[in-house]
Amino acid sequence: MSITYKDADGVQGMKIAGRLASEVLDYLTPHIKPGITTREIDRLAAECMKKQGTISATLGYQPAGYPPYPASLCTSVNHVVCHGIPNDKPLKKGDIVNVDVTVIKDGWYGDTSRMFMVGEVSIAAKRLCAMTYDAMWHGIMHVKPGIHLGDIGFAIQKFAESNGFSVVREFCGHGIGRNFHEEPQVLHYGKPGTLEELKPGMTFTIEPMINAGRKDVKELGNDGWTIVTKDHSLSAQWEHTVLVTESGYEVLTLSAGSPPPPPFVNA
Ligand code: MF3
Ligand code: CO
Ligand code: CO
Repeated sequence: MSITYKDADGVQGMKIAGRLASEVLDYLTPHIKPGITTREIDRLAAECMKKQGTISATLGYQPAGYPPYPASLCTSVNHVVCHGIPNDKPLKKGDIVNVDVTVIKDGWYGDTSRMFMVGEVSIAAKRLCAMTYDAMWHGIMHVKPGIHLGDIGFAIQKFAESNGFSVVREFCGHGIGRNFHEEPQVLHYGKPGTLEELKPGMTFTIEPMINAGRKDVKELGNDGWTIVTKDHSLSAQWEHTVLVTESGYEVLTLSAGSPPPPPFVNA
């Protein structure tokens, strides 16, 4: 499938879906504390989506070669890179967890994730979460018509690697609209001036997965979904859905509980 460009109605639909996805994260935030299980987080998300009148895009999602994804969101704890499946293990003080929510509203998709620190966490874990947030924004801040996807990947990679972290290669951001995963792929590494040129009306995610150790990942191997770091080092991820406007970008997955952009971003 090719890149889809959203007209005014499409943009309106994407804004609503994006805000609702972010509001699911707001709803979950006060609950993410030591002792809660990721299955309970999943149940709360389903409850929130029901109230919103949204549908989870992940529940039953089945790309070619995968088993149907069994939950309303993804919860990726510590060395889990992405696609962690909620389970009955309680979160404990010191854990870091990515919660990734994708909702469908009136056929439009909104996709966003945040890191949560469970109780007090190590300085290293805190730094990884903060730097990964900044890495995402280093990508977002360049978005405007005329730049290339390679410029986004380069900015993220340069920032992450210059701070001693590594960028996961196997998973990337993606076009999004009336489908969960559309073209183009949005790599979180790359070379300036390469790949697709951005044009107004494009909507895609930027969702870098950044490892404290080496970049290599592997499948956990027992559920068909869970991806972990090969060296068991911590991994973090943040995700926004963005729109390319005539003059720059608009982040679509914002809500009252979204953390503010870092100071280096002049929006
Ligand atoms: N939300 C993820 C993304 O950002 C995809 C999750 S697919 C699932 O693209 F099936 F694992 F939920
Ligand atoms: Co995504
Ligand atoms: Co996501």
